[in-house]
This record gives sequence, C-alpha cells and structure tokens, in this order.
Amino acid sequence: MAFDTLAKPAQEVSSKAKDCCQQRQCHPFAGLKFTLWVILLFVIFSPAVAYDPLDPFGNITIRWDIMSWTTDGYVAAVTLSNFQLFRHVMTPGWTVGWTWTKKEVIWSMAGAQATEQGDCSKFKLAVPHCCKKTPTVVDMLPGAPYNQQFSNCCKGGVLASWGQDPSSSVSAFQVTVGLSGTSNKTVKLPHSFTLLGPGPGYTCGPAKIVPSSFFLSADSRRKTQALMTWNVTCTYSQFLASKNPACCVSFSSFYNDTVTPCPSCACGCQNKNDSCIVSNSEMLKMPGINTPRKDNAPLLQCTHHMCPIRVHWHVKTNYKGYWRVKIAITNFNYRRNYTQWTLVVQHPNLNNVTRVFSFDYKPMDPYQSINDTGMFYGMKFYNELLMEAGPQGNVQSEVLLKKNKETFSLKQGWAFPRKVYFNGDECMLPPPDAYPILKNSAPANPIAFLTLTASVTVGLMILLIC
Ligand SMILES: *[C@@H]1O[C@H](CO)[C@@H](O)[C@H](O)[C@H]1NC(C)=O
Ligand SMILES: *[C@@H]1O[C@H](CO)[C@@H](O)[C@H](O)[C@H]1NC(C)=O
Ligand SMILES: *[C@@H]1O[C@H](CO)[C@@H](O)[C@H](O)[C@H]1NC(C)=O
Ligand SMILES: *[C@@H]1O[C@H](CO)[C@@H](O)[C@H](O)[C@H]1NC(C)=O
Ligand SMILES: *[C@@H]1O[C@H](CO)[C@@H](O)[C@H](O)[C@H]1NC(C)=O
Ligand SMILES: *[C@@H]1O[C@H](CO)[C@@H](O)[C@H](O)[C@H]1NC(C)=O
Ligand SMILES: *[C@@H]1O[C@H](CO)[C@@H](O)[C@H](O)[C@H]1NC(C)=O
Ligand SMILES: *[C@@H]1O[C@H](CO)[C@@H](O)[C@H](O)[C@H]1NC(C)=O
Repeated sequence: MAFDTLAKPAQEVSSKAKDCCQQRQCHPFAGLKFTLWVILLFVIFSPAVAYDPLDPFGNITIRWDIMSWTTDGYVAAVTLSNFQLFRHVMTPGWTVGWTWTKKEVIWSMAGAQATEQGDCSKFKLAVPHCCKKTPTVVDMLPGAPYNQQFSNCCKGGVLASWGQDPSSSVSAFQVTVGLSGTSNKTVKLPHSFTLLGPGPGYTCGPAKIVPSSFFLSADSRRKTQALMTWNVTCTYSQFLASKNPACCVSFSSFYNDTVTPCPSCACGCQNKNDSCIVSNSEMLKMPGINTPRKDNAPLLQCTHHMCPIRVHWHVKTNYKGYWRVKIAITNFNYRRNYTQWTLVVQHPNLNNVTRVFSFDYKPMDPYQSINDTGMFYGMKFYNELLMEAGPQGNVQSEVLLKKNKETFSLKQGWAFPRKVYFNGDECMLPPPDAYPILKNSAPANPIAFLTLTASVTVGLMILLIC
C-alpha cells in the first residue's frame, strides 16, 4: 500500500526527467544522471506518505449522526470538520462521494445536494432526490432557499483551516436515506468515501462506528444524543494532488546583491504543450482571458520556474536586538484569485516574532514539538485576496523578529526559512549552495560545518547532474 503511493510518483518523476533529458540531448551518462536526479528529488521532497511534520494530525473528518429512524431508513446529519492547521478548502469547494452497501436511496437532502439524480424510474409514487449507487454531494451556495438550508451549510463548500478560523472550518448537511436498515443492528455503513477539495489529494479511510455524538440545545439546557454515529477520516497528500510542487521560494538579502531565484523548472518546465503567456503579451487584453476554467486549469505567466505562486524572503535589516524580513507572495496564474490564502513558514527565530506589519500571524504551537513555525495570512478587507497575475497580483508584509542571541546569524543561510507552505502545499526552496552568502564566513561551529558539508555534497550532486 505504502509502496504503491511511493512507486507511482517515482515513475512520473522519472518520465519527466527523461523528457528533460531528451530535450537537452543526452550524453553517455544520462542514465546515471537521471537516477541521481530521482534520488535527489526524493531527498528534497521525501513524498512517500500523507504525514506532514508541521501538521501531523491534520485531517478532514466526515461524521454521520443518525438523528432518527424512519419507516424505511434514517435521517442523518453529516458534518465535515477540517482539522488541518493550515490547509483550507477553497472555492469551488468540497465534493463528497461514497458507495452504498445495499440498495439505499436518498429521499431528500438539506444544506447540500447530489450532483446527479440517477435512474429513479423504479419509484412510482414519490421520486427520491438521488438513486445512484455512488452519490456525489456538493454544498449549496450562500443564499440557498431557506427551506433547503441546514445549520453550517451553504458556504459553497469552502472550509477554513482549523488554525486560521475554527468557527468556519465546519460544514454540515442533512440526508434522509431510504431502503436502508432501520436500526443500529440492520443499518449498513456506506463505504469507499471520496473527498475532493477542490482538486484531488485526499484519501479517505473506512467508516468507523464511534461513540454517539451529543448535542446541546441553543440555551444549553438540554442535551440530546445521536442514535448512532460513524466517522470517516480523510488525509491530504500533496503528491496525490499533483506531481509537481505548486510554489517556489526565492531569496535576497541586504548583505549580498545576489538574488537567489526560484529553482528552474521548480513546478514544471516550459514545453510546447503547456502554454504560458509572457507578462506583457497583447493576448492579456483579450476579454475573458482571466475567466477561471471548470477544471481549474491555470494560465501561467511564462517564467523559468513555471510555478503559479512564488514566495520571496528578503533579509532586510540587521538591528542591534532585532532583525527584519520582507515577505512577498506573487501570483503567476492569470486565471485564479486566491482568497483566504495561508503561508506557513518554519524558521528557528519564529518563536520570537515581535511584529508583523501587514499580514495576520499565528504561531503554530498546538503541539509542543513545534515552536519554530508560524502561519501568515491576509488581513480581512485589506490583503486576504491575492489577485490574479498582473500588476495587482501580489501581497507583501514585513516581519520584525527579536534576535535569539545564541543562535542568530547571517551566516550559512541561517536567516532563510527551513520550510515554506502556501495554501498547505510545500514550496520548493533554492538549493542550499545558491543562498546569498555573507563573505568571510568561516564555519563557526561543528554543526554549521556539518550543514556546510551537506550543502557542498548536495551542490556537487546538482553539478554532477546538470
Ligand atoms: C483528526 O484530527 C483530530 C484533530 O486534530 C484528531 O484528534 C484526530 O485524532 C485525527 N484523526 C486521525 C485518524 O488522525
Ligand atoms: C444499538 O442500540 C442499542 C439500544 O437501542 C444500544 O444498546 C447499542 O449499544 C447500540 N449499538 C450501537 C452499535 O450503537
Ligand atoms: C469523530 O468526528 C468528530 C468530528 O466531527 C470528532 O470530534 C471525534 O473525535 C471523532 N471520533 C473519533 C473516535 O475519531
Ligand atoms: C503535445 O501535443 C501534441 C499535439 O498537440 C501531442 O501529439 C503530444 O502527445 C503532446 N505531448 C505531451 C507530452 O502531452
Ligand atoms: C479576481 O477578483 C477581482 C475582483 O474581485 C475580479 O474582478 C476578477 O475577475 C477576479 N479574477 C479571477 C481570475 O477570478
Ligand atoms: C524567544 O521565545 C522563547 C519562547 O519560545 C523565550 O523563552 C525566549 O526568552 C525568547 N527570546 C527572546 C530573546 O525574547
Ligand atoms: C522550543 O524552542 C527552544 C529554542 O528557543 C528549544 O530550546 C526548545 O527545545 C523548543 N521546545 C520544544 C518542545 O521543542
Ligand atoms: C553573494 O552570494 C553568492 C551566492 O551564494 C556568492 O556567490 C557571492 O560570492 C556572494 N557575494 C558577496 C559579495 O558576498
């Protein structure tokens, strides 16, 4: 199982490497080079599992609470809770699917709807809402008719991340099921749950019967209990979502003129088929060029990295007790606005953030082991919307950090982040040997020396490969 998830991306990576190779005309060691590439890519991404060290317990849980039995089935409240710290479900929202175990039908729904009714020709007197064996359900849009609503419904499938806004991280709907069992002994749990949110990337486990949920009345004076509850847990894997990273990082500093760009081909290479648009093209004036596609296909500005998102980290000032960083996020996709974007950064000095000037900031310390990671996100009504590529397509802020006296250093790239995630996807960092360096920086301690040695090794590998 784990092997499968490992093996497939590897094939994708290798065919990609082969393509690159053919374009550049292979030489005799191409085979070796391309094996090294694969190893290197694994070292950099270690993509194997959904496990994310910055959000080890992150998941979306789908909970079914049977609220009442009916003559031929039951009425259930289905709740989706996004327990991921920094990955929200953006527009066009979640899509949930499952497979019925018997001949169940959905008589009616509130707060969501099945996308297809299916073949209900067997039913003469009353027609069900959906007769498909594998229904696909989507949220309703805001402003749905009052009589079709349900509490926590009708947000167009958008779920905030738990870390950003727990109160908006829940979505719910009601489903009335027929031709199913009518007691907790005879009811059969649906299986093969799927969750798209809004693209691929989630894998759902089996439904598991859990202790029944409790509900408090609005005035907290009465407690009720579900007749039966089951949970389904879905986890995200960036590697299932797409074979390439979705963003990259570039660096600069006040102490060195070199701007370290995003790695070339970080999110794919420019090729004939994946067309892109040069930034000042006349085509951009065509009406409708920015209109999002149904399949969310991007229209990228041509860059050497071909990423829809670039995060730039500039070490701006070194004060006596503080230092200052400027962060800029640039959108290169002409067909997408990012609402409620999130940026997660891991850096050892983030435990001493003094001030963030024009983003909101939350340290991510729900688990004791993480105290060097924080989440930046847009300020409401100011820059929570990252506009489509173009002159408006960027957001930026400055961060003032209190120096951690023992560890602060401008050497060996210490001032640059260790990991960066945009909207929950990990961004590709420049190779360690390309970081802007402060001259005359001899290895100061064994650990730094080790890091340097590691960088040189990786650097050599890259040299060997390219
Ligand atoms: C899902 O997330 C919640 C909240 O973090 C956690 O309590 C629960 O254990 C997680 N479930 C799984 C199966 O990881
Ligand atoms: C089913 O319901 C009975 C009472 O009606 C209860 O004792 C039993 O624990 C329930 N079983 C499950 C699996 O919920
Ligand atoms: C079931 O899901 C709910 C979230 O809706 C969660 O609070 C609860 O802990 C889950 N139960 C189990 C046993 O995972
Ligand atoms: C690129 O497009 C051409 C035709 O437009 C097609 O024959 C070819 O298979 C495509 N290549 C890839 C890698 O998609
Ligand atoms: C982005 O938002 C602006 C302002 O709301 C809107 O005019 C534009 O059409 C949107 N672009 C896309 C790609 O959705
Ligand atoms: C940095 O933050 C830690 C807590 O994470 C605190 O113990 C320490 O005193 C802070 N250092 C400075 C220089 O403020
Ligand atoms: C938190 O960071 C400090 C350094 O400021 C480190 O010494 C400590 O071990 C970290 N805490 C945990 C629980 O890892
Ligand atoms: C700036 O950094 C680059 C890349 O690491 C390095 O090659 C260059 O020598 C540095 N320049 C100065 C003036 O330190």
